[in-house]
This record gives sequence, C-alpha cells and structure tokens, in this order.
Amino acid sequence: MFYFVWESSLETGIDIIDTQHRRIVDYINQLHVAISDKDRNEVERILNQMIDYTITHFTFEESLMEKAGYAHVGAHKAVHEAFTNRIASYKQRFDNGEDIAKKLLSDLRIWLTNHIKHEDGDYSGVVKEHLRRDIDKGWLSKTLGRLFGNA
Ligand SMILES: [Fe+2]
Repeated sequence: MFYFVWESSLETGIDIIDTQHRRIVDYINQLHVAISDKDRNEVERILNQMIDYTITHFTFEESLMEKAGYAHVGAHKAVHEAFTNRIASYKQRFDNGEDIAKKLLSDLRIWLTNHIKHEDGDYSGVVKEHLRRDIDKGWLSKTLGRLFGNA
C-alpha cells in the first residue's frame, strides 16, 4: 500500500482547515508505518490520537460553519457523526483483537479524500467569504484555544 500523499486537489483554500486536514493525513501515514512494523501498541496509540484529533477537528469545522451561517450544517454534522461511529466500530474490533488495520487504512483514505473534496468543498465558499469579512477577529483564536488548547 502507498502512503497518503497530500495533493493540491485536497485544499479547501481555508488555511486553518487545510492545516488540520494535513495533520489527519499525517496521522494516517503514521498509522501506516505502525501497521507495516506490526507494532500493535503503536497502532493503538496513533489510533487513539487520530480519533481524538479528528473529533476535535469536526467540532471546530462545525463551529466555523455555524459562525459563517452555512445553510447545510445539519447535514454536514450527520456525515461527521456517521464517520465517527464507523471509526468507533473499527476501534472496537481492533480492541477485540481483530486484524482490521489495513481495511481501516484504506477506508480512512477513501473517506477523507471524498469528504474533503465534496462536503468540505461545499462549505468553503461561504466560510472563506465570512473569514474575508473578518467580523469577529477574536472568535477564531478563542475557538481554536478552547478546542485544541494551543491557539
Ligand atoms: Fe467535514
């Protein structure tokens, strides 16, 4: 299997979102290495970090869409939730000792690519316009600090 290489077609044009998406791609590649090394403890460690980070990213993205007044936040949230459940069920199977690592890796890659190009692409215009007008300057750093603790 190949590494997940970041490509420009994955860019939403919103820097903060692209940075977070790249970090998820990094986690997927770290997971790839741990799986190739057959290092179960490392797979577990990265899996936990990736799940945590991705859920926080989803929360941030949803807050940003709401703040920007994007009309389809509800549908987008439902997609995030379905994905979160899917990952949780993979994690459960992993915890039960099933060998799901390779299947998970290809699923993550396909899902993330499709999601970024379609659902995330759909909100990018509204969010970009909102950020360009920059009505509430403190909101972004406050929200990042609250969710990620490092803004
Ligand atoms: Fe999303």
